[in-house]
Amino acid sequence: MAVNIKNAAELEKMRIAGKLAAEVLEMIEPFVVPGITTAKLNQICHDHIVNVQQAIPSPLNYHGFPKSICTSVNQVICHGIPSEKKILKNGDIVNLDITVTKDGYFGDTSKMFYIGEVPSHAKRLVEVSQESLYKAIELIKPGARLGDIGHVIQQHAESNHYSVVREYCGHGIGTEFHQEPQVLHFGQPNTGLVLKEGMTFTIEPMLNAGKYHTKLKKDGWTVETRDGRLSAQWEHTLAVTANGVEILTARSEESF
Ligand code: MF3
Ligand code: CO
Ligand code: CO
Repeated sequence: MAVNIKNAAELEKMRIAGKLAAEVLEMIEPFVVPGITTAKLNQICHDHIVNVQQAIPSPLNYHGFPKSICTSVNQVICHGIPSEKKILKNGDIVNLDITVTKDGYFGDTSKMFYIGEVPSHAKRLVEVSQESLYKAIELIKPGARLGDIGHVIQQHAESNHYSVVREYCGHGIGTEFHQEPQVLHFGQPNTGLVLKEGMTFTIEPMLNAGKYHTKLKKDGWTVETRDGRLSAQWEHTLAVTANGVEILTARSEESF
């Protein structure tokens, strides 16, 4: 199946969904502190999405996922399930991944939060991960190729002695959560799909402090580093424009 191109009306709906997802990350920030459970963060986000935004928390019941957001702490790479038992503590790093559906369209974005005082080695991993996303976004324009995106992420990660997770990737997005194409976070320049105006997809690099290998927990969702070392992830939903890129999930703290 081909990668679909969104027209102006569809892009406007993507813009709305993307903005709502970004606003959830801004809304939740003051609550992400030592002592809170990931279940409580899930509940606050769920209630905001449903009651304030009048939107749908896309992860809930997605292929059986039991909660409304993903909460991935420390060695958890992605798809962590919010839990009453998981209390955030000083020094943790946590990814909150928010996806909302509004008027049939999806917006998907995630960021890392520091819990209290975080050691500098963990902060460096988080920063390099965010830089790798931004370097990839800078390359987006019609004519650029997906391999260029994967390559710049891999290059930045590995030159900082981190590894890039292989088994999970970014994805096309629109009227479905996950569409074609797959957006790999590693690869060779000048290879892969050629970008065209109107394509919408996510980039969501996962960088590990140690090796890239993953381990799926028995709950069937939680993905951890096999070596137990830290992992960090950042995600935006993007649209290819005539001259470059529009970041559909940009937050006000970001300056592009
Ligand atoms: N938000 C994730 C992504 O970036 C997908 C989560 S699927 C879920 O693609 F079922 F775990 F929610
Ligand atoms: Co995604
Ligand atoms: Co996501």
